[in-house]
Amino acid sequence: MDGNLSPNDMSGIVEADRAHVWHHLSQHAPYMAPEGERTDPKIIVEGRGLRVWDQHGREHIDAVSGGVWTVNVGYGRERIADAVRDQLVKMNFFGGTVGSIPAAQFSERLLEKMPGMSRVYYANSGSEANEKGFKMVRQIAHQRYGGKKHKILYRERDYHGTTIACLSGGGQPERNGRYGPYTPGFVEVPHCLEYRAQWDLSGEEYGIAAANAIEEVILREGPDTVGSLCLEPVTAGGGVIVPPPGYWERVQEICKKYDVLLHIDEVVCGVGRTGTWFGYQHYGIKPDIVTMAKGVASGYAAISCCVTTEEVFDMFKDDTSDHMNYFRDISTFGGCTAGPAAALENMAIIEEEGLLENTTAMGEYMLDQLRALQDKHACIGEVRGKGLFLGAELVADRTTREPLAEKLVAGVTGHCMKQDAVIIGMTNRSLPGLNNTLCFSPALIATKDDIDQIIASVDGALTKVVG
Ligand SMILES: Cc1ncc(COP(=O)(O)O)c(C=O)c1O
Repeated sequence: MDGNLSPNDMSGIVEADRAHVWHHLSQHAPYMAPEGERTDPKIIVEGRGLRVWDQHGREHIDAVSGGVWTVNVGYGRERIADAVRDQLVKMNFFGGTVGSIPAAQFSERLLEKMPGMSRVYYANSGSEANEKGFKMVRQIAHQRYGGKKHKILYRERDYHGTTIACLSGGGQPERNGRYGPYTPGFVEVPHCLEYRAQWDLSGEEYGIAAANAIEEVILREGPDTVGSLCLEPVTAGGGVIVPPPGYWERVQEICKKYDVLLHIDEVVCGVGRTGTWFGYQHYGIKPDIVTMAKGVASGYAAISCCVTTEEVFDMFKDDTSDHMNYFRDISTFGGCTAGPAAALENMAIIEEEGLLENTTAMGEYMLDQLRALQDKHACIGEVRGKGLFLGAELVADRTTREPLAEKLVAGVTGHCMKQDAVIIGMTNRSLPGLNNTLCFSPALIATKDDIDQIIASVDGALTKVVG
């Protein structure tokens, strides 16, 4: 390990982890196998920039920002830690019925980046922020429409979080499987991935058809029953799907026509990931509700926000004679000041270091490098993405587009890790038979050299594993 990194006493850590920690999204059997056959859980000990070190002192390059698209400004940012420390010593927490200095400051800074939006509701996780959005829609339905306009539309392949309600509004059957019964009132609309097209159309015609499919669902369900449409601007875990041209414009028209609130889930795209502050800003659309989490404080503190327009906010204060009229929701740790204190520094770093510009430039560079890999490896069916949020869909056959077997895709990510200590991602337990997209989302500070290192590793892994 680099001499500048702090010493770590790892004695007992791996065994304590093996014995007691239940890892997310993990089958633990390989850790528990008899000695000699078992693998050790990986412990990440330290991070700097784009690099992390494990329990053996092995340096890795992290091409997925903490595994799950989170550490947008990179590891080891002392100024964020200092700001959080100073704030916690001064005032760490008070329930969210009252305000705090960093919450007020961050909401002001955030809304400067979101013209048309006006109120920030603080919570802790992406799932929770989305639940707030769902609850607002339900309460509006009760207050305005006798409970009728309560249905929430979500899109096939999108993900909005881990709670039962979020899974009920999640379009990834392998994520949802075995957690039913689900919450009623969530209705699926078709995905918009042209590479796996449901209609024999392309480009803008495909985009408009995919949006029109949403209108069909609204008409089928009855517009007076549909309260909101919740969409990721660029679908993340469902396969890094950038909506086709024409899609968003038509979606906006449809929402307006049927008085359906547009809820954009920016949990992954938000705060710079695609090269703009928010993913929806590429498309000139005007959402009613925007949720965000991961990149808001780059994982230096747990924070999420559910941001609304003034029109939505007004519906929760327009009748003071009704004692149930306000938003009767609380999130205990939405009152923790570490989140907004970290978020303020995180945003300042993005501005001072020009990270939106870097994301756009490096995103284009990385997309080009992935396209060059596609020319070399027949198993890459399509590369897609925006900014430093990219995917490569792997296929067994380019002509038929038969997805590459999940084991082989996992073999590619495993090879990058084992051979080169390069951490890349893949779609994971999302759609049956379609967990075949490699995912890349390095921190927004990535350089050409970093990207070259990542691409070289993927090149080697594709040659070795797929041939
Ligand atoms: C698009 C999207 N929305 C919501 C979530 C849920 O966020 P969290 O895990 O913070 O609850 C995720 C998590 O990956 C996500 O990708």
